[in-house]
Amino acid sequence: MSTKPTMSPYARHILICNGRYCDPAGKAEALYRKLPALLGEMGNYDNPCRVKRGLTPCLGVCGGGPLMVVYPEGVWYHHIDDALLKRIVEEHLIDGQPVEEAIFHRLG
Ligand code: FES
Repeated sequence: MSTKPTMSPYARHILICNGRYCDPAGKAEALYRKLPALLGEMGNYDNPCRVKRGLTPCLGVCGGGPLMVVYPEGVWYHHIDDALLKRIVEEHLIDGQPVEEAIFHRLG
């Protein structure tokens, strides 16, 4: 049997869609590249409060992008720009208060 991989601790996982239907202007990758600086220590691999992050080609919504979902809450944001991304990091990921006016769906 092969060896199982290990998982370092983390608190949240965010996914940004860079698919062509919701991000036709190609803004998502630039937003994604800003995350390490915005997250600071919350992006560090050995931080148990770490925010894992990833780009994905589709999240099954396909409009209103750039889109981002934050798990485990299952909070979905739409039309993300630089200013909103900064607010999401500071208000939601750091202070625990989602940016209500930019949410279009919640899991459950
Ligand atoms: S292309 Fe972004 S959700 Fe499908």
